[in-house]
Amino acid sequence: TSPSTYKRASETAENILKDLPEQLRAPKVGIVCGSGLGGLAEAIEDEPKVEVPYKGIPNFPQSTVQGHAGKLVFGLIGPAKTPVVLLVGRAHFYEGHSMELVTFATRLCRMLGVEVMIVTNAAGGLNPEYNVGDIVCLNDHLYLAGMVGVNPLRGPNDESIGVRFPPLSDAYDLELRRRAHIAWRKLELDSSRGKLHEGVYAFASGPTYETRAECRMLRGFGADLVGMSTVPEIVVARHSGMRVLAFSLVTNRAVLEPGLRGDDPLVQGMSAGGLAEFLSKGKANHEEVLEEGRKAARDMQGLVKEIVGDLYAN
Ligand code: 6GU
Repeated sequence: TSPSTYKRASETAENILKDLPEQLRAPKVGIVCGSGLGGLAEAIEDEPKVEVPYKGIPNFPQSTVQGHAGKLVFGLIGPAKTPVVLLVGRAHFYEGHSMELVTFATRLCRMLGVEVMIVTNAAGGLNPEYNVGDIVCLNDHLYLAGMVGVNPLRGPNDESIGVRFPPLSDAYDLELRRRAHIAWRKLELDSSRGKLHEGVYAFASGPTYETRAECRMLRGFGADLVGMSTVPEIVVARHSGMRVLAFSLVTNRAVLEPGLRGDDPLVQGMSAGGLAEFLSKGKANHEEVLEEGRKAARDMQGLVKEIVGDLYAN
């Protein structure tokens, strides 16, 4: 991390703060809204509420993905009127941004004084117990890219932000996960949706979805989900001392079964249309990802609102 990154993040923080009303200036919770989960911004119903489009924010990476219109939303949540900042839309590594830019918004949160990051995403399910539309509370991750050198913390370290070698064994805060399960039951989501899963998220840089063999590899490594975000943000959040809670929405089931071989009698005997239909089954598809997001967003929104509402209540 170049020292100028921290400087840029604090410049950006100052620039945003000067236009915010007093009550919104010290967000305690940062909430990252994943693909199709921008509805989380509706968790803030009352005034004061201030939206800041990414477009006007200096140093901020501009999102290029459809369904990821970008803005910060500042507001208050719950009876304790906890100040929060929502990040509607995020920068992904597959868009071509550096890891530094992918995690810029997380650094900004820390500069704004955020203590707890709640990170959401849309992901493919590798665990055969997961169904499309399920919600998973992350309890660990696999960061293959990070382990081999594509890590946002690579480079000089600013000791005033965090340590050189941050531990990640406790990255997914146990107390926050407990709160998530309690909120889940309180909202009776266990009767309407079944259980809140816990799982391991594997980061893949994308933009390609994984092959069947890659999915089997990740599953063999212990991953329950695969997706193209979240992990770099969590690494930076932990480095700078923020507590982390993360949820995935299962938008599709990653395909693990070996495919048919071209010389299989079934393939030979099928009509072109029948074959196309067969092959398209179980293929990850961006529309499907967005649609599932829209459907489950409201439950995720209720869950996050409930957790945040309780976080600073006495
Ligand atoms: Cl199957 N893979 C990845 N990498 N990201 C996803 C996904 C799959 N489904 C939703 N997001």
